[in-house]
Amino acid sequence: MLDFFSSSAVFICFDLFSGVKSFILCIVCAGKMSMGPTQCDEVTEVVCLESDLQDGQMKEVEVNHHKIVLVRNEGKFSAVGGLCTHYGAPLIKGALVGNRVRCPWHGACFNTTTGDIEEYPGLDSLPTYKVCLKSLTLWKLRKLTQCRIILGCISSCPMFMCLWCSTGPASLQCAETLRQNNYGGRIIIVTKDEQLPLDKTKLSKAMNIEVEKILLRPSDFLQQHGIEVLKEKEVVSVNTEAKTVAFNDGTSQHYDQLLISTGARSVPFIVSCPGAEMENVKLLESYKDAAGIYQMSLGKKAVIIGTSFIGMEVAAYLSDKAASVAVVGKSKFPYQFSLGPDIGKMTMKMLEEKNVKFYMSSDVAEMRGVKGRVKEIVLQNGDVLPADVVIVGIGVIPNSHFLKGSAVEVDSRNAVVVDKFMKTNIPDVFAAGDVASFPLCIREDKRVQIGHWQLAQAHGRVAALNMLNKQTELNSVPFFWTVLLGKSIRYTGYGEGYTDIVFKGNVDERKFLAFYMKGDDVVAAASLNFDPAVAKVAEIMATGKKITKSQAETEVEWNSGTLE
Ligand SMILES: Cc1cc2nc3c(=O)[nH]c(=O)nc-3n(C[C@H](O)[C@H](O)[C@H](O)COP(=O)(O)OP(=O)(O)OC[C@H]3O[C@@H](n4cnc5c(N)ncnc54)[C@H](O)[C@@H]3O)c2cc1C
Ligand SMILES: *[C@@H]1O[C@H](CO)[C@@H](O)[C@H](O)[C@H]1NC(C)=O
Ligand code: FES
Repeated sequence: MLDFFSSSAVFICFDLFSGVKSFILCIVCAGKMSMGPTQCDEVTEVVCLESDLQDGQMKEVEVNHHKIVLVRNEGKFSAVGGLCTHYGAPLIKGALVGNRVRCPWHGACFNTTTGDIEEYPGLDSLPTYKVCLKSLTLWKLRKLTQCRIILGCISSCPMFMCLWCSTGPASLQCAETLRQNNYGGRIIIVTKDEQLPLDKTKLSKAMNIEVEKILLRPSDFLQQHGIEVLKEKEVVSVNTEAKTVAFNDGTSQHYDQLLISTGARSVPFIVSCPGAEMENVKLLESYKDAAGIYQMSLGKKAVIIGTSFIGMEVAAYLSDKAASVAVVGKSKFPYQFSLGPDIGKMTMKMLEEKNVKFYMSSDVAEMRGVKGRVKEIVLQNGDVLPADVVIVGIGVIPNSHFLKGSAVEVDSRNAVVVDKFMKTNIPDVFAAGDVASFPLCIREDKRVQIGHWQLAQAHGRVAALNMLNKQTELNSVPFFWTVLLGKSIRYTGYGEGYTDIVFKGNVDERKFLAFYMKGDDVVAAASLNFDPAVAKVAEIMATGKKITKSQAETEVEWNSGTLE
């Protein structure tokens, strides 16, 4: 894959010197690299002794202010950028398996020989550096001649047109993968949003962040790569016979290949609860929602309904900004069914320490207000909670209503049914991301619908390759994270139907690893302060191996270095 965004390239030089100690040298290419051919200077530097790095190990070095990870695998040395292209985690703290390193934070994977990104949520590959061994006597720092880095450009492939509905990660990854594979046709992304594709995961973690800081790609990047984005345009129907998509403004657009990646939306509360239609009852779906909720909550009384990931993140974020935060949940503990009661109880305590009040095992009976604005929430047990703003996070449903009347197959939950190639039942129509129901490789191809950022990207990539007839199956391992008060819980696998949880560490001390067991197999894992355990588990799952209960119980080094 292409590395669109690496800022520079560095070469590290080794030269075997028989008998005596060898020194590892690097040559740093210090020029700034843009899109397209670039010229830059090279710089050479000693980084360590050859004997400092054993086979199967990695080592972080710094050369000319570049953090680099040196890897030795099966006798061969390689060097790649040391910081993850997603949020910049130090890859040295991740899990190394052969020539692949998995980021400890959110599970992105990189090939340590090519720098290629092999698993998301990052967008870019890592820069690679040349490595050679030299003896001390031969070594001297040199400024070398210029190097050239050529990035792929859009070639003149047969022209046909692809149309994506949505600007989520699935559609953007699909578009970029097509360009990386020299697709030369037109690419149009259509969205009802007002913004370019952005990092939606931030909307509940940094609710008042500026939009520029979370755009996945700046507009000139999209322009440069011929990715058109049509904003504020809603798809209302799809005609797969005529190969057209109709929009809410009365216009329509022809496609040769279509990707449906419209994601999922929050379940509204209105149906079940009197008063829930009032204007200060909010869902959190878009940038505008996040900014609005933030503004409405400053110094005010916020009530959050639902103890899902979004509800809990919002409660944590608002805990030092709103005058008060109350959380109403149906179960006894937050995340009771996903992460289990112990972790749920612990997170509840974390938030209670920040004065968040929980009303668990309860439900809302009524919302009372004046002049169209909620003033108080009445619970079924009669408790009354004052409210200036209400945030509802009680689950999601696929955005597929515009497929009604089309021939595209949806399941009973209205998710679009796809195979391992992200193909729907209709030729040239693909689906990806939260809207799709797909076979999950790590659970014997069980049909699932999963709302993870990283999976949406993986889907988008697989769809793109299959659009180009490069037959590729989806084999991504689900990886998810959530952040509460600066602490990240990481999760991998698919825990549905788990029968037992095996813990390492201590949940109450907020340093733990949880294995979700189904019979004798680990089907998922979650952790807090236990890196890179979850990345390790994901890497084992990615190789198709099972982790048994006794391995989960006895293996002592889940939170250390490399993987055996
Ligand atoms: C607040 C929040 C926090 C999250 N945090 C995390 C996290 O920490 N980690 C994680 O892994 N996942 C997280 N997620 C989930 C993650 O964001 C989703 O899994 C991911 O965005 C799905 O990508 P997608 O491409 O399928 O769809 P989306 O990102 O949902 O994009 C779909 C797009 O389609 C548009 N659209 C829908 N219908 C139409 C239509 N008819 N016409 C035109 N456009 C349409 C929507 O406006 C939207 O822009 C979070 C989600 C939210 C909302
Ligand atoms: C990394 O890239 C090399 C070279 O393209 C390839 O041979 C190898 O299979 C890749 N490794 C993984 C783990 O994908
Ligand atoms: S920082 Fe590496 S995956 Fe997020």
